[in-house]
Amino acid sequence: MHSGEIRQKFLSFFEKRGHKVVSSASVVPANDPSVLFTTAGMQQFKPYYIGGADAVKDFGSLNLASSQKCVRTSDIEEVGDKSHLTFFEMLGNFSFGGYWKKEAIEWAHEFITKELGLTIDYVSIFAGEVNVPEDKESEEIWKSIDPEITIKKFGRADNFWGPTGEEGPCGPTTEIYVDGIEVWNIVFNEYYQNKDGGLTSLKVRGIDTGMGLERLVKVVQQTDSVFETDMFESLIQITDSRIVADHIRTSVFMISDGVIPSNTDRGYILRRLLRRAYVHARKIEAGTEVLNSVAAAVINHPSYRNLYSFAANTKEVVMGEIEKFKKALDAGLKQVEKGEDPFILFTSYGLPLEIIEEVTTVDKEKFERQMEEHKKMSSVAGEQKFSAKVGGSANPEGGKN
Ligand code: ALA
Repeated sequence: MHSGEIRQKFLSFFEKRGHKVVSSASVVPANDPSVLFTTAGMQQFKPYYIGGADAVKDFGSLNLASSQKCVRTSDIEEVGDKSHLTFFEMLGNFSFGGYWKKEAIEWAHEFITKELGLTIDYVSIFAGEVNVPEDKESEEIWKSIDPEITIKKFGRADNFWGPTGEEGPCGPTTEIYVDGIEVWNIVFNEYYQNKDGGLTSLKVRGIDTGMGLERLVKVVQQTDSVFETDMFESLIQITDSRIVADHIRTSVFMISDGVIPSNTDRGYILRRLLRRAYVHARKIEAGTEVLNSVAAAVINHPSYRNLYSFAANTKEVVMGEIEKFKKALDAGLKQVEKGEDPFILFTSYGLPLEIIEEVTTVDKEKFERQMEEHKKMSSVAGEQKFSAKVGGSANPEGGKN
């Protein structure tokens, strides 16, 4: 079964069960300044869980389904293994007071076992902790569906989800495992977590589920890693480097949603991804044209063509940044070859240590000492600059974006 078919099966399954299918939001969250990127399908629907918006008015239904573009860079060091990615699609069904645990669990079970024909290893439920009780209701529902099913119980670290950012809806979860992989996270949004960590009950209970499409496709297509599925086939044909494939793919989606490489926030994350991709390509002696081809393969991927529109200049932004970086790196490395200290790659070329280590030998202890010195010097310089400006400008730092 092709990934496009799996995605469509999911959306149709929930459409037939009274859900309105909604398009993916941008990877840049529209109304959540506490996070840089969209990391979950529920993010665009946050106001509907907390009662600030009316889903029936906006979508004609209390129940929605989507395939959401997500970016998560917290596990970037894991990318290249069997299942970690910095960009993925999250299939999700949502309800804002429409249905509750019974339907959510029964439908998830039906979709996994009947529609996809998969066997569930086990499921997990919330064991209860602090002020939140054990989820006995979900346990009963699972047993009524399949008296033989293995049910594991875990605490807040494993079976409680949210909020995204500093505050928001959250709640206990039940998770479905297939082939040793957690494929589906079903969240019962019953609480609102405040900035101080306190929980209050939500007026309307909501359902929020998330199933990573790439991992699901891996399980359905029975491949060794996500990189061997049809979602990555055309990329891996160009380069074996999983890191290059992952980072360029994520960059293409970021740029397409308006992110531009820069030295702050989202732009900096994009810049780091592109630089890492280039350095990895260089390590395997692949030229910049390989990165260009991978970007083209993402843009022309049959799975994305009808689903997401890419800005006309997406590839130019990718290549513009990489060419600029290549020039700076070559110039910097020449200086180092001539006997300059590798620290110059940080001060004059802005390269982070992790990248400098990939391209040349670094005495790490010395580098870190130099880094400390440099920080001290720049904070003194910064303070001088600041005091010189105070009085002249109401906002010497130019504001925080
Ligand atoms: N919002 C939940 C997650 O991201 C479903 O796992």
